Amino acid sequence: MRIPFIAANWKMFKTVQESVVFVKQLRSLVKDASNVQVVVAPPFTALHAAAEAARNSQVGIAAQDVYWEREGAFTGEISPGMLKEAGADYGIVGHSERRRLFHDTDETVNRKALALVAAELTPIVCIGETLEERERGETLAVLDEQIKQGLDGLTGEQVASIVVAYEPVWAIGTGRNATPEQAGEAHAHIRARLRQWFGGDAAERCRIIYGGSVKPDNIGAFMALPDVDGALVGGASLDVRTFADIVAKSR
Ligand code: PGA
Repeated sequence: MRIPFIAANWKMFKTVQESVVFVKQLRSLVKDASNVQVVVAPPFTALHAAAEAARNSQVGIAAQDVYWEREGAFTGEISPGMLKEAGADYGIVGHSERRRLFHDTDETVNRKALALVAAELTPIVCIGETLEERERGETLAVLDEQIKQGLDGLTGEQVASIVVAYEPVWAIGTGRNATPEQAGEAHAHIRARLRQWFGGDAAERCRIIYGGSVKPDNIGAFMALPDVDGALVGGASLDVRTFADIVAKSR
């Protein structure tokens, strides 16, 4: 039995103050949704304050990225240990914006995922095809490569506890979500590959969440799919009531 996992990816939005106000409102809005894992990913600057505001609630905290070294001369970077100390429980890696704008590759995504696991943080590993790749019929092959390389070196036991986010790049921030058929096909494929490469237990327990223009009025259709275990929400996560509505409708 996989518990639904609904995460807010705030990207480069929200000050420390705004993050704290949001988390305080969210924790009371979702207190009855005890069978849903609710996570918010604030910018680095607000991680600690958000984690303090979420203390003793069901709201978990994620970083939006990480660097794989423990410490050193890496100007501008943040280590897994630093995230953990700030109060994070999860780290998003491989978001398509990081791949496109900041040159993340499957290899660096893999290093980041391994570093998070080593620090006992849960990676949320993002994968997904571009529009050109989909139109060329390469979607499943692209996902295979991203899974194979991105999760390389993780054990079945570790894969069982991570989160994989399927986010078709063309659906992110466009208002054009994947159809349930498209998401269903991709999620079933991802789970089959996890079964093949990491074993049945890993495949059954790993949460595979959908991201890309998720809103209160489409979350139900995604959650009805057998291999969709939750959502990574961008734009619609910035308003606390809208996000809480998505959480409520994910059950
Ligand atoms: P969106 O973003 O919900 O605004 O499409 C999703 C994401 O980038 O994770």
